[in-house]
Amino acid sequence: MSANTFGRIFRVTTFGESHGHVVGCVVDGCPAGLEISVDEIEKELSRRRPSAYYGSRDEKDTPEILSGVFEGKTLGSPIAIIVRNANQESRDYDELKDIYRPGHADFSWEAKYGFRDHRGGGRSSGRETLCRVAAAAIAKKFLTLSGITIRAWTSSIAGLAQPSPNEDGFDFDEIERNLLRVPSKKGASEAMVKIEELRGEGDSAGGTVSCLISGVPAGLGEPVFDKMDARLAAAVLSIGACKGIEFGAGFAAALMKGSENNDAPSPDGKFATNNCGGVLGGISSGQEIFFRAAFKPTPSILKPQKVLDRNGNVKEAAIKGRHDVCIVPRAVPVVEAMTALVIADFLLLSRCAKI
Ligand SMILES: Cc1cc2nc3c(=O)[nH]c(=O)nc-3n(C[C@H](O)[C@H](O)[C@H](O)COP(=O)(O)O)c2cc1C
Repeated sequence: MSANTFGRIFRVTTFGESHGHVVGCVVDGCPAGLEISVDEIEKELSRRRPSAYYGSRDEKDTPEILSGVFEGKTLGSPIAIIVRNANQESRDYDELKDIYRPGHADFSWEAKYGFRDHRGGGRSSGRETLCRVAAAAIAKKFLTLSGITIRAWTSSIAGLAQPSPNEDGFDFDEIERNLLRVPSKKGASEAMVKIEELRGEGDSAGGTVSCLISGVPAGLGEPVFDKMDARLAAAVLSIGACKGIEFGAGFAAALMKGSENNDAPSPDGKFATNNCGGVLGGISSGQEIFFRAAFKPTPSILKPQKVLDRNGNVKEAAIKGRHDVCIVPRAVPVVEAMTALVIADFLLLSRCAKI
C-alpha cells in the first residue's frame, strides 16, 4: 500500500501540488515497444482542462516526457512526465491560509500532517488528476492493442438524468461534442440552463459519470482482495469529490428478486442480461463492464457560507478563486484514466495466472 503509487505491474506514482512548480507522474512497468507521443498525452490532458463555460481558469497543460521513451516508443524503463504549473495565481488563495474551506480537504489534511500547502488545495487539488490522465494516456494506448476501449460520459448533472445507452436519445458521438459531456444534445442544452442558473446564484452542482469498458476478455481480476470491482471502486473513489460507485444494476439489484437479477451464461459464453456489470466473483465475465460513479457538488462556492478559521472562530465567507460550477464533465476523462490503469494492470497480471 502506498499513498502516491497505484498498480502492481503497471505502476503509477504521481507527484506535485496545485501551485508548486510542476505536477507529474512516473509510469513504471509499461512493456517496451509501445508507440506513444507527446501529442497523444496532450490530447487526453486537453479533455481534462476547464472550459470557459463551466469554469474560468486558463490552465495550459503542456506535457514533457523526461524519460522512458526513445524514438517514439517506450523503452520498458520508467516513463517520467511533467507539466509545468504556468498559471499559479497563488494570490487568489492568500485569504485561505487561515481558514478551512467547507467540503474541502483543508481541515483533515492539517489534522493529519499539521501543515499544508493552502494554495488551491495543494496535493488534494483536482489538478493532481492531470497526472493520472497523463499516465493513463499510455495505459489506454496499451489497451488498444488488446482491443479494449473505455468510454465515460456525464450520466446526470445538476439533478438532470441523461439517457442510458439502451434508451432513446443516447448518442455516443454527442459526448465529446458538448461541453458537459452529456450523451444527448437536448440533455446538454437543458443542463446548461441549470448550470447557468447555479452560476448566477454563486452555487455549484454534482452529478454522475457512467463508464463502459468494452473488449475485456473473461478472466481478469485478482480475488479475493483485488477483485476487479473492488479495484475499480478503489481507483474511482480515489478521485477527488467522488462519493459513490455502483456496478451494473448496482443499488437497484438490492430491490430485485434473484430470478430477475441473475446473469446466466449460455453455451457460447454470451449472457442475455448484464445486471452484474460484467464482473462475477471479482473476475471479468467477458461482458461489457459497466459502472456509475457519483460526484458531489464543487465545494468552492461564491455563495457566502459558514467557515471555521484556525483560531476557532466561525465567520461568513465566500470562497473566491476560479472554480468549476460542476466538475463532473472534467471528471469524465479522469474516470476513464483510473479505469485504464486498473485494466492495464490486470491484463499484465493475467499473463502469469496459469500455465
Ligand atoms: C477534475 C477535478 C477538478 C476539480 N476542480 C475543483 C474546483 O475547481 N473547485 C473545487 O472546489 N473543487 C474541485 N474539485 C474537487 C476537490 O478537489 C475535492 O472535492 C476536494 O479535494 C475534497 O475531496 P473529497 O471531495 O474527495 O473529500 C475537483 C475535482 C476533480 C476530480
